[in-house]
Amino acid sequence: MTRLSLTTAAPATAKADALVVGIYSGSGGSDAGPTSPFDAVAAAVAAVGGKGKAGEVTVLPGTGLAAAGRVIAVGLGDPAKITGEIVRKAAGAASRKLAGLGRVVSTLGSVDLTAAAEGHLLGAYVFDRYKEPSDAPVVEIALVVPSAAKPAKEVLRRAVVTAEAVALARDLVNTPPNDLFPASFAERASAAAGEAGLKVDVLDEKALTKGGYGGILAVGGGSTRKPRLVRVAYKPAKAVASVALVGKGITFDSGGLSIKPAANMDHMTSDMSGAAAVVATAIAAAVLELPVAVTAYAALAENLPSGSAYRPGDVITHYAPKGERPRTSHVLNTDAEGRLVLVDAIARATEDRPDYLLETSTLTGAQVVALGTRTMGVMGTESLRDRVAQLAREVGEGGWAMPFPEELREGLDSPIADIANVAGKPAGGMLLAGIFMQEWVPDDLPWAHLDVAGPAFNSGGAYGYTGPGGTGVPVRTLLATLADIAAAG
Ligand code: BES
Ligand code: MN
Ligand code: ZN
Repeated sequence: MTRLSLTTAAPATAKADALVVGIYSGSGGSDAGPTSPFDAVAAAVAAVGGKGKAGEVTVLPGTGLAAAGRVIAVGLGDPAKITGEIVRKAAGAASRKLAGLGRVVSTLGSVDLTAAAEGHLLGAYVFDRYKEPSDAPVVEIALVVPSAAKPAKEVLRRAVVTAEAVALARDLVNTPPNDLFPASFAERASAAAGEAGLKVDVLDEKALTKGGYGGILAVGGGSTRKPRLVRVAYKPAKAVASVALVGKGITFDSGGLSIKPAANMDHMTSDMSGAAAVVATAIAAAVLELPVAVTAYAALAENLPSGSAYRPGDVITHYAPKGERPRTSHVLNTDAEGRLVLVDAIARATEDRPDYLLETSTLTGAQVVALGTRTMGVMGTESLRDRVAQLAREVGEGGWAMPFPEELREGLDSPIADIANVAGKPAGGMLLAGIFMQEWVPDDLPWAHLDVAGPAFNSGGAYGYTGPGGTGVPVRTLLATLADIAAAG
């Protein structure tokens, strides 16, 4: 990963390969203030037709403007309307232009240090395990700050830990399913979580059978790569609350016997984004020493058709907490597999008696139809749902609260099981998936369901701090929620 540091040195005279400067639209000038030498940069941008609008990037030669080799001027828009997300995106866009360079100085640190640090790191991310990028990510970015004392260092450290968590989730999502399958995901998650001092437990297919995890076993039954349930736990000495995280970990979703069309089936390598996010979030919570106990569950299976695959028409008996009656589900479509693995994990998670449950999954195409590719659907208990959706927007991941209309539940009635995994009609598909899972959530447990089918994976070109492939959504929303719970209960 790109290295970040803090500097109080005057940016104009700093020796560097490049200098990143924020430019405001209108007569706002540069981010270093209207009387600063960077007005020359703003003037140069204007001379080549730049407007300083948010998202705009102009590359200029350093000559006459700064001691650095080149100047990357990034638009920040109207100074009265500046937000963290605008700075994060500007820093990310700048980082993508900085690939191949060594040392860079960025004045965005003086606008919003957290956003600049996160944006620069996330924008510099490349997945280079299988292909060498034409230009390596920028080696080091020095963020200009008024003071590099302890408070700034702590802000930087948090941003770096956050970006590292997003990068871990992205790496897992981007690793192809021939290399990332339930057992190898479990190994990687164990290694990363173990290193950070978390307690790790992995249930293999034998343990899953013994425990009665019928949903995970059914969905994973068609693959020679057997399913897993990973549990990673962070338990601080002084916890103000405990939170269970549950993530969908379908390492590849072909649809199973209800097989998907060929077009874009390769995107289903990202169907373990929820699992990646919850593991990465739990690790970050531990590294940040948040005063919240976090237990993350990754429900891992590969959904393939074969002679051992589960069938439409099957009835699954799901995992039940000790002493409770196991619930059954009627499989009407093997492509609605996420909810089947998730409810096993949700039921297991309730045994830890958490104060909150946050579940996230690339669950439905209906999420993308309803909200597009950059806004997650947030459902669940009203107050927690609204809180999470608000935090998603604050961190720039995008989220919107969605309801559980009561009348939809009867669409999932089955004549032979407690519930069917799909309704006869597609109407409200995103909501139905949440309503299905709600059956396994105790009435007194506040929970939120984050459907990130669109936002978890960028199938288009790079924008802001988001490159192609795994985006790391919703790691920053989950982390913000944990931090909010740590602060407010
Ligand atoms: N993993 C998919 C959902 C998905 C779709 C994620 C597009 C990312 C992008 C999920 O398992 C699925 O196949 N859902 C079905 C549910 C349907 C059968 C009720 C869907 O959305 O079509
Ligand atoms: Mn599916
Ligand atoms: Zn799926």
